[in-house]
Amino acid sequence: MEKEIYLTGDRPTGKLHIGHYIGSLKNRVAMQNSGEFDPYIMIADTQAFTDNARNPEKIRQSLTEVALDYLAVGLDPKKSTIFVQSQIPGLAELTMYFMNLVSLGRLERNPTVKTEIQQKGFGEGIPAGFLTYPVSQAADITIFKAKKVPVGDDQKPMIEQTRELVRSFNNAYQKDVFVEPEGVFPPKGQGRLPGIDGNAKMSKSLNNGIYLSDDPDTLAKKVKSMYTDPTHIRVEDPGHVEGNVVFTYLDIFDHDQSRVQDLKEQYQAGGLGDMKLKKHLLDVMEAELAPIRERRLEYAQNMDQVLAMLKDGSEKANQRAEETMKEVRTAMGINYFN
Ligand code: TRP
Repeated sequence: MEKEIYLTGDRPTGKLHIGHYIGSLKNRVAMQNSGEFDPYIMIADTQAFTDNARNPEKIRQSLTEVALDYLAVGLDPKKSTIFVQSQIPGLAELTMYFMNLVSLGRLERNPTVKTEIQQKGFGEGIPAGFLTYPVSQAADITIFKAKKVPVGDDQKPMIEQTRELVRSFNNAYQKDVFVEPEGVFPPKGQGRLPGIDGNAKMSKSLNNGIYLSDDPDTLAKKVKSMYTDPTHIRVEDPGHVEGNVVFTYLDIFDHDQSRVQDLKEQYQAGGLGDMKLKKHLLDVMEAELAPIRERRLEYAQNMDQVLAMLKDGSEKANQRAEETMKEVRTAMGINYFN
């Protein structure tokens, strides 16, 4: 039996951080290694252009950084098809056809896009490509007939939009070319790792992230500067655990949860200092991140091999996409010459 296809991806607009790792990369590797799926992992450079059209150098550099991050965490090109969005011409074509099946009003109501538009403050007006990127994302998912799309909660509207487009297309051309995909979302409360400053979101623009590529000194510095509990001034003062980033991270990175429980009790009672606590966090994080960092450095010495991996993956993905596009053209009746 054919394995179920799952597809997900990232915009190449910077290196990936441990928020990406905890929120999605780790799960992707587990899904890959379960052997139950046929994973497609896409570097969404076309989508990155929707808000970085005048910054191609950033996209070009980030593409290889993201590829290195993928390989470093254990995504394996023998098991996962890792590919580059712009190298699949059928995606642009399918996006054009989907564009006619959605109204501007519908696109303007997408809550994630609305928030992004506010955050980005597009000076010269909203690029048409940005407003319509959920349509292009629907093409990404459907061209591979992906059934499962593991993504963050902010991507819910994109999945909904995709499902609508699948129904509209199949209905307009009276052929069940596409299947409705399902989003796979992180378990409640586990989706997002806060930044080291305590902000709910880790992001490059907030400068509060820890990157998979950070060297040991950088990691140590970042852990030392982590937000804890501003009312916990002297070691013997009782401290707070909620909202304390060090404990949020320990909940995730320390595999010995009864030890974490003990530390929490000590901290709340007073007598456990931030420096000691942070040293412990650094140890458990280093244990998890060091092998990733080392693999990343190894791959980085062999960029030709990394690019060859992306090229192979893109060719394989393109073959699959072309098969679907044949069905699309036939369903639409534009297969005039064969
Ligand atoms: N929009 C996604 C993000 O910003 C990236 C993405 C592009 C994607 N195309 C996709 C995710 C298709 C899942 C499926 O993270």
